[in-house]
Amino acid sequence: MARFSDDFLFELRSRIDIEELISSYVRLKKQGRISRGLCPFHVEKTPSFTVYSDTQSYYCFGCGAGGESITFIRNIENLSYYDAVQFLAEKVGLKMPEETADDGLYALRKRIFEANREAARFFYANLIKPDCPAYTYLIGRGIKPETIKRFGLGYAPDSWDALTRHLRSKGFKENELISADLSQKSRTGGLIDVFRNRLMFPIIDLKGNVIAFGGRVLGDEKPKYINTSDTPVYKKGKGIFALNIAKAHGRSLILCEGYMDVIAMHQAGFQNAVAGLGTAFTSEQAQILSRYADEVILAYDSDDAGKKAAKRTMSIFQSMNVKTKILTLTGGKDPDEIIKRFGREYMQKIIDGSLSSTEYKLALAKEGINTDTADGKVEYLKKAVEVLSELDDAIERDVYAGRLSEETGVTRTAIDEQIKRALSFRKRKQDIDSFNKAREILEGKVIAAKNALKLYNQSASLRCRQAEETLLASLIQNPEFYKKLKDKITIDDFSSALHKRLFFKITERIENNQELDLIYFADEFNPEEMSILTKVFQKGRTISNTLDECLDCIKVMSEEKLKQSAADPSKLSDEEFLRLFYKKE
Ligand code: GTP
Ligand code: MN
Repeated sequence: MARFSDDFLFELRSRIDIEELISSYVRLKKQGRISRGLCPFHVEKTPSFTVYSDTQSYYCFGCGAGGESITFIRNIENLSYYDAVQFLAEKVGLKMPEETADDGLYALRKRIFEANREAARFFYANLIKPDCPAYTYLIGRGIKPETIKRFGLGYAPDSWDALTRHLRSKGFKENELISADLSQKSRTGGLIDVFRNRLMFPIIDLKGNVIAFGGRVLGDEKPKYINTSDTPVYKKGKGIFALNIAKAHGRSLILCEGYMDVIAMHQAGFQNAVAGLGTAFTSEQAQILSRYADEVILAYDSDDAGKKAAKRTMSIFQSMNVKTKILTLTGGKDPDEIIKRFGREYMQKIIDGSLSSTEYKLALAKEGINTDTADGKVEYLKKAVEVLSELDDAIERDVYAGRLSEETGVTRTAIDEQIKRALSFRKRKQDIDSFNKAREILEGKVIAAKNALKLYNQSASLRCRQAEETLLASLIQNPEFYKKLKDKITIDDFSSALHKRLFFKITERIENNQELDLIYFADEFNPEEMSILTKVFQKGRTISNTLDECLDCIKVMSEEKLKQSAADPSKLSDEEFLRLFYKKE
């Protein structure tokens, strides 16, 4: 089932000009109806990357990468099909279609949202029952009843299957409960609850859906937290706790490590606090936050692990040009503890004095060094210069260099000289790193494309494959031929799985009077296959496009099929295959 309607894809395609799209990644030179440039998918010196404006497609004669706009974005931005469509739609200002109700996945997702909501209600109802241990626990930690309600906290009872039974009585099916990761199969084959005897934190997305849960033990058992694993509505490393509330409280967000920190912060009036869930903070989460924040204040635990994590997270934001600050949490290990000990005013003071990330790094560099001694001063300066050389902003560098000079009594000129040296060293290292990384990615892609091509080339004799390609290309150009050819050819007459699928898809669309354009194929065919499809589509321009030609092709195909069953096809080397494949261009 296609994920997007033809109407939507048609609209998308009509708003995109592939030349313009590709131009923002590749310098193209126009040559009549085509444009050429250096291929972004492999390293080359002479341009073999070709963009066809008439078919709105591209093909590289050097590495075989090809496709239309969606496939291009998939490859160059490393996105899934769905995300690539979203990326393009956003670019051209097209609204994404609401998922359609007859889509199977959509229906399941809807059921999971419903099951999660019902589970959250069930957990909450259990929490406010008299003598609930989780309620006593929360109150003991200073959480007020209205905060409990605001976050919809709950309690998963100490039972094997209380929730499962409850949800079944509400009509939820086994597969829905397992897909939601609310229930799991027991060893004896029955269904049991995933969360048992835990304090429950519902995770709510920006649309108000309950997408997942975190569950904390009430004692010291391990693991302390369990979280919903990946489900059709939730991906680990993507959710952000309390963003649904925080996004309405300014464009400066406080990022904490734990659920309890966020809850304590909100209760103390800092409603702009959020947290990642379970895993280390990911760049995907940073991307999401960057849409709602101009500034992110990190309120990570004050232990070594927290400091390390803060530094990591900070560099993620830095690479996205989001300003970060780091709170120096003194007097407690995390925001929750500090608020409980010293109150909200103290916390406010910490926030007001929050260090810029550079100040924080400089403070870290100084830690444990006695700058009163000459050796200590040199050691500190070395580390500090390293920190300053990481700054992209020259003005910022200048300001801190001035401060450093004042602080240490070393002349500005000497410090500037050192920074300059560190900068050029860093730059060289960065260039080498990024070059190596780019090459690794490119090589991976080229290998994938080449392997696909190789498999494809070996799938049948060249003569047979070319006949099939010509027939398919002709059908694409002349859909009206199909009526006359219908009785003479079936899907089984094609030699490779790819051609079979392509024939099926082409004829299905012809029968339904649907347009034949590459863009409608990008969902079902992966980027490597799209490269081959692009060649087939392009071939339609160079053949004679007659019915007789098609009949010839069918004849060749059946001859070759006979031959194939009689003898093994000759085995050409890879190079020979590639050469033959490209020869006709
Ligand atoms: P309290 O100990 O109740 O104050 O919780 P906390 O939120 O302060 O927990 P902590 O600082 O230990 O951990 C921070 C965050 O890491 C938690 O909120 C969880 O999201 C996550 N986390 C902690 N322990 C575990 C664990 O055992 N498993 C998983 N998956 N995540 C955990
Ligand atoms: Mn804590």
